[in-house]
Amino acid sequence: MKILVTSELPGKTFEDFIADSQHDILILSSQERVSLKKQVEQFNPDGMITLLSDKVDRELIDLAPNLKVISNYAVGFNNIDVEYCSAKNITVTNTPDVLTDSTADIAILLLLMASRRAIPSDSFTRAGNFSGWGPSLFLGRSLRGKTLGLFGFGRIGQAVARRAASFGMKIIYWSRSRKSEEIEAETGAVFTSFDQALRASDMISLHLPYISELHHLFGKNEFEKIKKGTVFINTARGKLIDEAELAENIKNGKIYAAGFDVYEFEPQINNDLKSLDNVILFPHIGSATEETRAQMADMVISDCTKVLAGLKADNPVK
Ligand code: DGY
Repeated sequence: MKILVTSELPGKTFEDFIADSQHDILILSSQERVSLKKQVEQFNPDGMITLLSDKVDRELIDLAPNLKVISNYAVGFNNIDVEYCSAKNITVTNTPDVLTDSTADIAILLLLMASRRAIPSDSFTRAGNFSGWGPSLFLGRSLRGKTLGLFGFGRIGQAVARRAASFGMKIIYWSRSRKSEEIEAETGAVFTSFDQALRASDMISLHLPYISELHHLFGKNEFEKIKKGTVFINTARGKLIDEAELAENIKNGKIYAAGFDVYEFEPQINNDLKSLDNVILFPHIGSATEETRAQMADMVISDCTKVLAGLKADNPVK
């Protein structure tokens, strides 16, 4: 069977996989990924292992008539036309659970860095400006006692809630479906309406998948409703936010500080965001630990080869 892998992956399983002679494996270089469609057409794969940045649309799928499985190296799969895959009997798989903790850690890291002004403090010190302790030097905001509004309350949102509770935060959440009493009791998170979550939060963190219905969930109207001085974090998907509006609200001081791991036009980033020192910009590293990325590789390799062997995938989407 022919498997097209759009990038090398970290971890021992991947090394063993490429040494495996049972499959004809094509691994693309970053340059070749730019012309993914051409590569797919030429190779005609039975299976594909893709990244969240690979656009797998109808046109691409039609170029691979033998395709049976697409294993996406991510928990999100908004880069794939899953409906079209279902219609064509192509299994799509993802990597849930294993990246929950790493991604929740990054959200908390951004929350702390933004609230405590980590970037300007670090720049100030490196520039040789630290001439001694001062009572008002780089005052930030405490997490304790603040209300954290979580938008989206799946696995990652809940993991963020548990962490935030240990910092003494009050947690409210909005999600498209209310979670069970058990989950609410265990995380201490209180369900609110979307509007209430906007208005009552001191700090906001997004944990929703991207689907077209949620495009620009945060735009002009929503930023008008948030509290002045909100800390704003997004580790979910960039297109949930109108990035130009967001930059405007950081510039005009409505948002106190912000932290991002994802962008509306990734990998491009709004120039205003890049110029602001109360904004932390990470290059989509939510799941980027050696351990997690190796586990993700295990999952995509296992699911892709299982489906090609006629077995059921462990992590089909939907
Ligand atoms: C995913 O896997 O969808 C995340 O965005 C990784 O950080």
